Amino acid sequence: MSLRLGDIAPNFKAKTTEGELDFYDYLGDGWGVFFSHPADYTPVCTTELGKTALLKNEFEKRNVKVIAVSVDPLDKHMSWRNDINETQDCTVDFPLIADEDKTVANLYGMIHPNASETFTVRSLFVIGPDKKVKLTLTYPASTGRNFQEVLRVIDSLQLTAKYSVATPADWKHGDDVIVVPAVSTEDAMNKFSKGVKVIKPYLRYTPQPDLE
Ligand code: BEZ
Repeated sequence: MSLRLGDIAPNFKAKTTEGELDFYDYLGDGWGVFFSHPADYTPVCTTELGKTALLKNEFEKRNVKVIAVSVDPLDKHMSWRNDINETQDCTVDFPLIADEDKTVANLYGMIHPNASETFTVRSLFVIGPDKKVKLTLTYPASTGRNFQEVLRVIDSLQLTAKYSVATPADWKHGDDVIVVPAVSTEDAMNKFSKGVKVIKPYLRYTPQPDLE
């Protein structure tokens, strides 16, 4: 069965381009982005891994560890990594799991037999410090993912984890956020010192609380 929001992301040990690792040890107490790609030496995957490497500082700022997986062997990952670095002008220094026997791919439901019996689809999981799944994405092989969107969701998740807020459609960092229904307007007025704008009793906005 596939993993759903709120499920515990299962632990595993794996061979990677950064050595053998235990997934939970790698994640530590922070957040994780774990994603699969169909195959090495393919164009869309090359751009995705390059983009992820170029966003290293953005992931670090948010205390997020990144890790990728495909069913290719380690030596192939190693040589393809050179191509990614060369063509995308980056340094891939996050681990690429070599999952030849599909243990990890099956654990995370990354093989969708009606799409491909052999290769992982483009699955992506955001995992919280509690090791629970906070976001799942599944893209087809032909569509590269939007890693700015992944960062945007992480920003939203981290705000929700810290404050009683949610984020509206198309929200981006700096925009007003939504007071969650569980908080009364009276409590919201006390809690959010920058003010609460009441459009409807159930639709209330407040400035992003972690900004000066
Ligand atoms: C790609 O990464 O370019 C790709 C991989 C598998 C199928 C189609 C495209």
